[in-house]
Amino acid sequence: MLSESSAAVVTATLPAVRAHGEAITGRFYRRMFDAHPELLDLFNRGNQATGQQKAALAAAVVAYAGHLTGDAAGLPWGPVLDRIAHKHASLGITGTQYPIVGRHLLAAVAEVLGDAVTPAVAAAWDEVYWLLACELIAREARLYAGAGVPEGGPVWRDWRVTGRARETADVVSFTLAPADGGAAPDFTPGRYVSVAVDLDDGRGRQIRQYSLSGRPGAAEWRITVKRVRGQAGAPDGLVSGYLHDRVSVGDTLRLSPAFGEVDATGDGGPLLLVSAGIGLTPAMAALAHLAERDPRREVTVVHADRTAAAHALRHELPAMQERLPNLAVHLWYEDIADAELPPLKAEVRAGLVEPDRIPVAAGATAHLCGPIAFMNLVRGDLLRRGVPARRIAYEVFGPGMLPG
Ligand SMILES: Cc1cc2nc3c(=O)[nH]c(=O)nc-3n(C[C@H](O)[C@H](O)[C@H](O)COP(=O)(O)OP(=O)(O)OC[C@H]3O[C@@H](n4cnc5c(N)ncnc54)[C@H](O)[C@@H]3O)c2cc1C
Ligand code: HEM
Repeated sequence: MLSESSAAVVTATLPAVRAHGEAITGRFYRRMFDAHPELLDLFNRGNQATGQQKAALAAAVVAYAGHLTGDAAGLPWGPVLDRIAHKHASLGITGTQYPIVGRHLLAAVAEVLGDAVTPAVAAAWDEVYWLLACELIAREARLYAGAGVPEGGPVWRDWRVTGRARETADVVSFTLAPADGGAAPDFTPGRYVSVAVDLDDGRGRQIRQYSLSGRPGAAEWRITVKRVRGQAGAPDGLVSGYLHDRVSVGDTLRLSPAFGEVDATGDGGPLLLVSAGIGLTPAMAALAHLAERDPRREVTVVHADRTAAAHALRHELPAMQERLPNLAVHLWYEDIADAELPPLKAEVRAGLVEPDRIPVAAGATAHLCGPIAFMNLVRGDLLRRGVPARRIAYEVFGPGMLPG
């Protein structure tokens, strides 16, 4: 808990910090990377360039300060901490890195707010930072212990690429087995791995997350990666491009253990899996899991894509339908000209997804994954139709969470 004196100071300065949140974190990253260039490899350069990660960090610190001082605005806090802790654990963040972030973040607050940062203000925000840091460090320690990672030890393990399959023009799947010959650990559908790659031409290391798209409990793991193409002059995706262009069978990839706070299989009742584009990867793991362990489950798959040909892993759905007799499939393709692909019992509609036409069984839990705008649209409609927020899980393939 925040001390009473600090709470008063934080309440008084929160509006100024909130207003300058992005400027503060912008300064913070510049300072920190100047002093610790080795940390550049840890952070996502795409997010740095587009400002997404800056916004996520600013939002987290400000929301936590609001939470501590009883400001009701902001997200429910537990899921936010879980989201950050799982992401951090997948990146191998250690307790020893928190003082570095804290030092540079607080120095950036002082730089941006100037004379307003008296010693009392600095001490109060230091307290906020460390309360938040301690919560995260504790959660991350539990995650490492659960994944068998020694304290402060590396999360990375070498995996051998045992298969590579082209799914669509832009999507490739890789199957992976531990290089030391050990077994691939079991995982809950919805979990993801971080993949660390050394880019060519001395461009350093970059890490990205990929949801496991194969069957939990299988001898191998599978990830399914969409090549990200730069829009309007922006560069092509670094890691997806590297995986597509440089990685083939027999190569080694460095992977973290499987982390992720979202379970894509619901609570045992009817399950609604809603995805768009490459956001189908957690749903495919959920289907494979249920086909084996709970085949009578009532499951509705709703998927939106540009065309049937762009719909990755579509060819796996007929086999899932055979194994899951209560599986219904609803597809929205922006262009249905080529929808007559191999047999699939599905309702196929043309155009963008129409949320009010998504069938929702009584007592269903939903799992959403796709672009933020798509998930906001679908989630908003499910809420309006009476599905409680706690029964709508979702995965964002980037930093951040949905509002409210
Ligand atoms: C939990 C989770 C699970 C995920 N699961 C999957 C999955 O199953 N499959 C999958 O394919 N992806 C998945 N992702 C997304 C994946 O982690 C990567 O974000 C994705 O592959 C893009 O990474 P990249 O390195 O190729 O692109 P980046 O290099 O990170 O680029 C991303 C975007 O930023 C833009 N950008 C970069 N630099 C600049 C600049 N200087 N100016 C303007 N724009 C710029 C690029 O043009 C591009 O649009 C997941 C993400 C998360 C968080
Ligand atoms: C109290 C301290 C911290 C807070 C509040 C915080 C907050 C966040 C948030 C909100 C995210 C985005 C999560 C998401 O994907 O939704 C994130 C990601 C990340 N954090 Fe932290 N963090 C803290 C400490 C640290 C430390 C000590 C490090 C290590 C140097 C670190 C490194 C990272 C990295 C590398 C990412 C992913 C960046 C990316 O993908 O662009 N964080 N953090």
